[in-house]
Amino acid sequence: MVTTGIIGAMQEEVAEIIAGMRQQAGYTCRRIGMRDYHAGAFDGQSCVVVLARIGKVAAAVTAVTLIREFGVDEIVFTGLAGGLAAGGNVGDVVIAGSLVQHDLDARPFFPRHEVPLLGVSEFVTDATLCTELESAAMAFLAIDFRRSITLEIAAGFGIGEPLLHCGLVLSGDRFIGDAGEAAELLARFPTALAVEMEGAAVAQVCHEHALPCAILRTISDRADANAHVDFGQFLSSVASTYSDGILRQFFRARHAAAGSRVALRTAVDASGIA
Ligand code: ADE
Repeated sequence: MVTTGIIGAMQEEVAEIIAGMRQQAGYTCRRIGMRDYHAGAFDGQSCVVVLARIGKVAAAVTAVTLIREFGVDEIVFTGLAGGLAAGGNVGDVVIAGSLVQHDLDARPFFPRHEVPLLGVSEFVTDATLCTELESAAMAFLAIDFRRSITLEIAAGFGIGEPLLHCGLVLSGDRFIGDAGEAAELLARFPTALAVEMEGAAVAQVCHEHALPCAILRTISDRADANAHVDFGQFLSSVASTYSDGILRQFFRARHAAAGSRVALRTAVDASGIA
């Protein structure tokens, strides 16, 4: 069975998932490098869930530990992001098709944004994993979102019909809370959807270990002067509903697909067809 590593940047983003895992048989928790790695089952699927804390170094060491200590087969990062593209509003979901470290600059020795001696600037995520997450996010937004987030809370954040976006995401060790800085990032990366602080680091580690990865983000703010207020409020009242809801849909679909394969195998065996 595939074991999925799930990384969150903040406690709120993985708390509900870990609470669900604790109820299941076989749950274990190992503390390595000041982080708790929760191993067990989530909706019938094997996974290891960990709070990475914030920033690229924290995300990278967590990803390496998941790979080397727990032998995960794939990594999904779940968290919040600041919206950059005009159409990306608070409450929308972003799945990164590729990621760049916007603060990486080793000029004049290497081109701006290129990881020195690796020769890569833009890390591409796993297409199959992203497609699965896209379906899960669509199902969450179409069904669970209205059930789990009241109209009052949605209205408070200005969320109407939240959308799903897929494309370029920027990562850097800076919280962007200034419209001018956000505009400068967009001028440098005109197709960028959102900015966050970990995704490209996880994508780099997965690239170096040839491991599939996906980065799932919910837009909590517009990376402008109000970003720190919007971010804090979104984190405390809505963030975990998105993470938990989308990952639940993701694992449920996997569970159903595994069940269909078993049923098909049984039918083929019973029919005597080789
Ligand atoms: N994560 C959520 N909002 C962010 C922002 N504005 N900048 C960087 N990371 C973020």
